[in-house]
Amino acid sequence: SLGGAVAEPKTINATEPLLLNAARGKEVERPPVWLMRQAGSYQTLCEKHPSFRERSENVDLVVEISLQPWEVFKPDGVILFSDILTPLTGMNIPFDIVKGKGPIIFDPIRTAADVEKVQEFTPDESVPYVGEALTILRKEVNNEAAVLGFVGAPFTLASYVVEGGSSKHFSKIKRLAFSEPKVLHALLQKFATSMAKYIQYQADKGAQAVQIFDSWATELSPVDFEEFSLPYLKLIVDTVKRTHPDLPLILYASGSGGLIERLPMTGVDVVSLDWTVDMAEGRRRLGPNVAVQGNVDPGVLFGSKEFITDRIKDTVRKAGKGKHILNLGHGIVVGTPEENVAHFFEVAKGLRY
Ligand code: CP3
Repeated sequence: SLGGAVAEPKTINATEPLLLNAARGKEVERPPVWLMRQAGSYQTLCEKHPSFRERSENVDLVVEISLQPWEVFKPDGVILFSDILTPLTGMNIPFDIVKGKGPIIFDPIRTAADVEKVQEFTPDESVPYVGEALTILRKEVNNEAAVLGFVGAPFTLASYVVEGGSSKHFSKIKRLAFSEPKVLHALLQKFATSMAKYIQYQADKGAQAVQIFDSWATELSPVDFEEFSLPYLKLIVDTVKRTHPDLPLILYASGSGGLIERLPMTGVDVVSLDWTVDMAEGRRRLGPNVAVQGNVDPGVLFGSKEFITDRIKDTVRKAGKGKHILNLGHGIVVGTPEENVAHFFEVAKGLRY
């Protein structure tokens, strides 16, 4: 014996988190559950630190905000507090996120010369706080849940930097796509290699699964999705799988009803569906090779507790046994009663196949 001279090392929980088992198609006793934008006391921190970039680029704040939902609801996944736009400054694309306006890109990218100025992303130099925060989160969560990293998909990032912010009709990126496709392809290529590197970095620092957000891919018709989104998603997945073959990758594309059969072609492990797709139909259309995530309407959390319970059970039954990560089809809506979020988790965690 060491006679108590050395402190006992904290035992690392070696059991794989439920979410990873479900993502890999292993047998699980119930579907794992997690939600986006689940932080209840987050608003208090917004008052103290009104700038989004300040909140999301400071290790202590990132860790604190990421852990808030973990402490309150004990979800099966803990997502890093950050934004899909966070890497942009490191790529020489200055931006801000302004309350009430959303993202602002100060110098939108619209020409070949603009694309030329976009730099490849080097995460360890540009966003060391992301790596540090993930490492701390991994220790804190200690395999009792999976720590989730995330990135924006090339087309979605391109839509922000070409439009200059959020958009309704996506006319500027479509003008580029349909009149100067080579310029857009050069930009998409830079985002694809950079985001592949960013996923590898997040995994090396502690992320156990990574979600790729292609929020605006569904603004594309299927043929244009095949040209401007799918190849770059595939490039990311292929690159990451070469170095991190066991890292589950989740693809999120809202409003993807018209693209469902194409989403597994990216090679991801899990496809996230929103509530505009019936879960049983979505499950069938995805085919047997991927797991499914979703897809309860976030608005359901404004209903009664019985209603919430019914909708959870309906979704879980339709998704079938295993290969399902229970989630909303999008993030929690501001104003959602916190007790209903608590009820959602309680019911979900009490389910057994
Ligand atoms: O659960 C979490 O909070 C995880 C962190 C997270 C944020 N954004 C923090 C954030 C994640 C995973 C995102 C992803 C993200 N960001 C997406 C993809 C998901 C989706 O919604 O389709 C997109 C498109 C963005 C870009 C973005 N960031 C927009 C359009 C906005 C403004 C939206 C608004 O409601 O004002 C943001 C800001 C942002 N990022 C907020 C949060 C919690 C809200 C504003 C704030 O907290 O100051």
